[in-house]
Amino acid sequence: RTGPITDRYGRVHRDLRISLTDRCSLRCTYCMPEQGNEWLARQSILTTDEIERIARVSAQSGITTFRLTGGEPLLRRDIVDVVQRVSGVGDDIDVAMTTNGIGLDRVLPTLIDAGLSRLNISIDTIRRERFHALTRRDRLDDVLRGIRAAAESGLAPLKLNAVAMRGVNDDELVDLVQFAVDHGAQMRFIEQMPLDAGHTWSRSAMVTREEILASLSERWTLEEIPGRGGAPAETWRLDGSRHVVGVIASVTAPFCGACDRMRLTADGQIRNCLFSNTEYDLIPILRGGGSDADVEALIRRAIWGKLPGHAVGDESFLQPARGMNAIGG
Ligand code: GTP
Ligand code: 5AD
Ligand code: SF4
Repeated sequence: RTGPITDRYGRVHRDLRISLTDRCSLRCTYCMPEQGNEWLARQSILTTDEIERIARVSAQSGITTFRLTGGEPLLRRDIVDVVQRVSGVGDDIDVAMTTNGIGLDRVLPTLIDAGLSRLNISIDTIRRERFHALTRRDRLDDVLRGIRAAAESGLAPLKLNAVAMRGVNDDELVDLVQFAVDHGAQMRFIEQMPLDAGHTWSRSAMVTREEILASLSERWTLEEIPGRGGAPAETWRLDGSRHVVGVIASVTAPFCGACDRMRLTADGQIRNCLFSNTEYDLIPILRGGGSDADVEALIRRAIWGKLPGHAVGDESFLQPARGMNAIGG
């Protein structure tokens, strides 16, 4: 087969999210246990050559956006090389990164030279004590330095992500939006998904899209911006200004019908969905002398096996064995 990578429901895939490592410099309570997880073995982690090869084959099949994730992608020592090689796999390739921002200020100029086009930075709270409690690391200042560097770099649009959590940061949503506005960034609130290591997620504890909008409406008039396409975030204009806030409501308003993304884990597994319980292993092909056509065929087969949507909240829902830090968000 040739042409774009399509599933049996007609969804065309344009976006590959590449997890570069399962390690992280933080320990967000909703993501990882205090001691971390059992890390992927070093030999099983894809090399830069392997990542470049998969990216090239994907680009030849119509993938135009690559998003580098983790764990924390900046922990990869060869991160600049990865960005450079992935941005070189085709014409008009977008290379974006989702990061916690730690250490970003130091490498950002080199990353931009290497071809990085966009940044999303995770920041769930701007209060120091809270940040420390939530991430188990007292590193808010490092994150703020990263955000400042990103804001000054001119990469746009700069997006800030916060998982909205009851009793943790749900009294801070307006402050976070104001913080983002002050940095020329778009704040986005995320409904928490059942992907936590401790399996403690519950629908009733989750802060919903409706609650987020109600909270923001106390401060601003929100005007919905139509035409989100395959993007997970719905967006609203604040008081008719150019400032925008987004909500990613994966649970109460799933966007699976427009999904255009697939995932590659740091150890070479293709996942057709964030929530999938099946993975397609590229390692035997990559390390067993397989051809590019074999790589492409496995990717197409993986996407052909994609379900129409996830069943979060239903009784049939089975949380994936991998944690968020090893899937890449
Ligand atoms: P943009 O392309 O800039 O909109 O980035 P993004 O929102 O796709 O990526 P980001 O890494 O910033 O992720 C923000 C949130 O969206 C995270 O909580 C992700 O887990 C979630 N997300 C990203 N892709 C998907 C997806 O395919 N399905 C679901 N349910 N959530 C997703
Ligand atoms: N639900 C929703 N978002 C999550 N993230 C991590 N775990 C979850 C979860 N269970 C977010 C991170 C980061 C992005 C990549 O995914 O906070 O912003
Ligand atoms: Fe690290 Fe992201 Fe997990 Fe927090 S949510 S521990 S920043 S991988």
